[in-house]
This record gives sequence, C-alpha cells and structure tokens, in this order.
Amino acid sequence: VKLLLPDSLPLAPDLPEGVEAVTYAVSAPVPDEHLDADALVVWGNSGADLAAVAGRMPRLRWVQTLAAGPDAVLGAGFPEDVVITGGAGLHSRTVTEHALALVLALVRRLPAAARAQAGHRWAGELGGLQPLHPDGAVTTLIDARVLVWGFGAIGQNLAPLLSALGADVRGVARHAGERAGFPVVAEDDLEDELRRTDVLVMILPATAATAEALDAARLAALPPHALVVNVGRGSTVDEDALVAALQEGRIAAAALDVTAVEPLPAGSPLWDAPNLLLTPHAAGGRPVGADALITHNVAALLDGGRLRNVVER
Ligand SMILES: NC(=O)c1ccc[n+]([C@@H]2O[C@H](COP(=O)([O-])OP(=O)(O)OC[C@H]3O[C@@H](n4cnc5c(N)ncnc54)[C@H](OP(=O)(O)O)[C@@H]3O)[C@@H](O)[C@H]2O)c1
Repeated sequence: VKLLLPDSLPLAPDLPEGVEAVTYAVSAPVPDEHLDADALVVWGNSGADLAAVAGRMPRLRWVQTLAAGPDAVLGAGFPEDVVITGGAGLHSRTVTEHALALVLALVRRLPAAARAQAGHRWAGELGGLQPLHPDGAVTTLIDARVLVWGFGAIGQNLAPLLSALGADVRGVARHAGERAGFPVVAEDDLEDELRRTDVLVMILPATAATAEALDAARLAALPPHALVVNVGRGSTVDEDALVAALQEGRIAAAALDVTAVEPLPAGSPLWDAPNLLLTPHAAGGRPVGADALITHNVAALLDGGRLRNVVER
C-alpha cells in the first residue's frame, strides 16, 4: 500500500508493516511516479492541482484532507468510489480560540479602542463607569444570548467556553436536539432564534445548502444591537447584504475570518464597511492531532474497519 503524505506539515503517523509512506510536494500536482498510490493525504494543495490528478490515480481508494471543511477536495472530482475523510476535530481548538477572540473583540469594542489609540485619543466613551447591560448594545457576555450556527466539532468545543463567561448558548444544525449539553435547533426555528440573538457565531461548512445562508432576510431578523462573527466559510454569508446591514446600522458590528473570495479583492466593499473586523482566514491553519487520525484511518482502511470523518458525497 502506497500512502502519499503532504510536505506542508511535519507528519509521522504510526503505520502498519506493508505501508510505504512517500512525502510529496503540495505546491504541484502529485508527480507521475506516484499516481499509483492507494491513499492520499492533502493539506494546503490547490484545487487545480488536485483536479489535475483526481481522475489519474487508478489504485486510489482513500483521500484524507486535514482541512475541517472538505469543500476543496470534494470539488476536485475524485471518482465516486474513492472514500474521502475530513479533518473535523483537528481544528476545533484553534478555531475556538479565534472565534472567542473575535466575539470578545466585538463585545469589548477593541477595534474602536485600537482606532482611538492610533489617533492618540483616550476613548472615554469606551471605559469608565457604565451600566452592565446598556440599552441597545452588548458590552459583556454575561447573560448574552449567543447562537452558534453550525454546531459540529468546533461549535461544541466553543460553546462551554462562552457558557463559562456567562452566555446563554444555543446551537443550530441540520438536526434539532440536545448536543454536548446545549439546546440545538434546526433551520425551521432559525428565524425565531435570530430575533432573540445578541451574538451570532457562524461555523458552517461550504455546501450547496449553506450558500449565502445568512441572507438579507435573516440579517433583518437580528436585533440592531446584534454582533455577527463568521469563522466557517465565506460562501455562507451574503456579503452585499451584510455590508448594507452594517451601513444602515441594522446590526451593530461583525467580524469575518473568511470571505467568499480569498484573498479579499482590493475593491471589495467589505474593507470599508463600518464596524467590520476582518482577519485573513487565520483561525485554523494548523491541524492538531493529524498523526493520530491518519494512523487510525490507515488501520481501518487495511482491516476493513470504520474510517473516521467519512464525508457524505
Ligand atoms: N476559519 C478557519 O480557519 C477554519 C478552520 C477550520 C474549519 N473551518 C470551517 O468550519 C466548518 C465547521 O467545522 P467543524 O469541524 O465544526 O465541522 P463539523 O464537525 O462537520 O460541523 C459542521 C456543523 O455544521 C452543521 N451544518 C452543516 N450543514 C448545515 C446546514 N445546511 N444548516 C445548518 N447546519 C448545518 C452540521 O450539522 P449536523 O451536525 O446536524 O450535521 C454541523 O453541526 C468547516 O466546514 C470549515 O469550513 C474554518
């Protein structure tokens, strides 16, 4: 069995005898001499490089992407009988940190403080004596209603931390029911939830069903003091509708780690949208626990066992 490992991160999975691991460069398509591989691990490959080999690996049985979102691998065109497994779980801790940083930055108005600092201005309006819950603004997570839309590996890791800070946390996923001790609703109840949401955290994958999931109508359901954070995929937000909502003060602020087109084009209206904090897809980018996942899935592939994180196709 030939297993191709990417050169984009150090990997040392425990492999059973008979598995030959070969490291390949992700900056180009898999070279011809390795198109006979049985298994392929990808991380940081371009969609075009994957598409260039997707139909040219006759022995390929399994592709493991280390990304939590398998959209790039799904789009490459690997044959239907090739099992694809994703990296859900490998990014939960890092993306949780970033989501928490963005939520707290908005709640604690750090962008306004940074702007004032750049102008050598003591922003008295941001500090001093103040009500715990001022009218029309969320300035603490204590008693804040946080809705986490996309309540998978990352959402379930983030929720207890928000809760520890005093927030009332709920999730939205494809199926309703309690998960990890938190109430989770499905799409039918989404608009009702949005109406009572102070902070919306989006952690959705890019799929046909999630395209522009946060559209003008759902933005309109949020109260004007609402804060919106997206650490999932840019395709899940209607960016024109978001810019309009910010410009018209129909929501208070937003923070995006991901945008529909990345890098964000110089002419995008997002750059200058009021009260918008942008980070350059910085939340994840460093899988944690990749060796253990690859070790497990190689063993399962050889024994006919259950692979972890199989992606529905
Ligand atoms: N910014 C970054 O650097 C970064 C890093 C890592 C990941 N991400 C993004 O974050 C996403 C989530 O990662 P994860 O590890 O938490 O994935 P996950 O465990 O697969 O969770 C995905 C969640 O989204 C829900 N979902 C999917 N389609 C939905 C729909 N149409 N409506 C409502 N909910 C829907 C799923 O619902 P069910 O549970 O009911 O199926 C699940 O709760 C990834 O797909 C990736 O795009 C971004």
